[in-house]
Amino acid sequence: MRRPRQISTVIEPFRIKSVEPIRLTTPEQRDELIHEAHYNVFLLDARHVLLDFLTDSGTGAMSAEQWAAIMRGDESYAGSDSYYRFRDAVRDITGLRHVIPTHQGRAAERILFTTVCRAGDVVPNNTHFDTTRANIEFTGATALDLPCAEAADLAAPGPFKGNIDLEGLERVLEDESKSVPLAMITVTNNSGGGQPVSMANIRAASELCRAHGVPFYLDACRFAENAYFIQQREEGWADTPLIEIAREMFACADGATMSAKKDGMANIGGFLATNDEALARQERDLLILTEGFPTYGGLAGRDLEAVAVGLYEALDPDYQKYRIASTAYLGNHVAAAGVPIVQPPGGHAVYIDAGAFCPHLGPLDYPGISLCVELYREAGIRAVEIGSVMFGADDPETGERRPARNELVRLAIPRRVYTQSHIDYAVEAILNVYERRSEMGGYVIVEEPPFLRHFTARFAPA
Ligand code: F0G
Repeated sequence: MRRPRQISTVIEPFRIKSVEPIRLTTPEQRDELIHEAHYNVFLLDARHVLLDFLTDSGTGAMSAEQWAAIMRGDESYAGSDSYYRFRDAVRDITGLRHVIPTHQGRAAERILFTTVCRAGDVVPNNTHFDTTRANIEFTGATALDLPCAEAADLAAPGPFKGNIDLEGLERVLEDESKSVPLAMITVTNNSGGGQPVSMANIRAASELCRAHGVPFYLDACRFAENAYFIQQREEGWADTPLIEIAREMFACADGATMSAKKDGMANIGGFLATNDEALARQERDLLILTEGFPTYGGLAGRDLEAVAVGLYEALDPDYQKYRIASTAYLGNHVAAAGVPIVQPPGGHAVYIDAGAFCPHLGPLDYPGISLCVELYREAGIRAVEIGSVMFGADDPETGERRPARNELVRLAIPRRVYTQSHIDYAVEAILNVYERRSEMGGYVIVEEPPFLRHFTARFAPA
């Protein structure tokens, strides 16, 4: 018998057991709804959104195995079986000895940084996520971004544009005037376009840190996606299972922070892990103060179970193949028609360069807001601006508005939620907006809170 020919179509490696309706709205309704939301998509009700690409955080679909594990949840206040299953899964994958559950990533960040950072300290990272930066700055320390040089050219392809700038890292570590309580690498680099970090870069950063006696941490939110990129793109890893690659990444680290709402495949959860026993003791004391007893850390036993199962599911090669192919499909199809995106497409998201999309708008016309509004109007799609609304700042002396480095719009793909036809619909919608881009106008900020303004600011067409 002839061997069947290889089929190249990448399919969703699951079938659907439970469905949730999404509601269609008319363009007229959407005009009205976005106006009522003051042109800020965060202020829309979710029921008025058709495809929600606001975030990949906590928005994934859980598997039948996760739901089954949830029924096993042991809700004992102390020493629950669920905690031990959670701890063992984290230890098995990360090799880190002390595992502290937290309700999500930023709780791990707060506990870590308030324990180790002092005013005047510097914490380098390839690029800090906004909550990471905010938690560091809250202690009076400085959050220093050190993206690699290739990251600056958004449109240029490159296998590992998430890498940290090793020379920059070495300079900071050698600068005797600066105290560095820890250095981090975020995998994948969310704020840097969802780009992966190579094993070589992780190893080199880890060695530099060890040589200077500085603990090295991973912000591990999307560790499994990063492991998949290493397997696909870095020489020498093609035949290594994802779990082995992940273990090798973590073997370079002295600790990790994790939001299990991403590659934990759960709707809530996270952890802080370290090999430093004395530090873990201090962190647990702080955990008890605000999160909960060290064997549940602000989570229900059932949440711990969902994460314990989900961490392994994220390392399933068929799942990762589909996940990364699906994101790349969206990015490559819009890019082929000329839409400027951060190249190559990231693991969890496609980032449209809204500045290049609307060259007739300046950064302070907030082209990212304009694009988010048009995607919603066109098709009920919710994306998020990552530009001068999120990262712009006012000059402390003159009060002058300073734009961010880039004007991006992120379309983050929830895990195991949308199908191929949803993605095709999104491609068509983006291309429709692209065709009428010259008609897109700018926006002004009408009202804004003193910090993290993107969540609640109100806008109006300029
Ligand atoms: N680190 C990274 C790299 C993240 O992407 C996030 C969250 C966090 C830390 C904080 O985790 O939300 O569980 O407290 N990112 C989400 C996003 C919110 O939309 O990218 P959290």
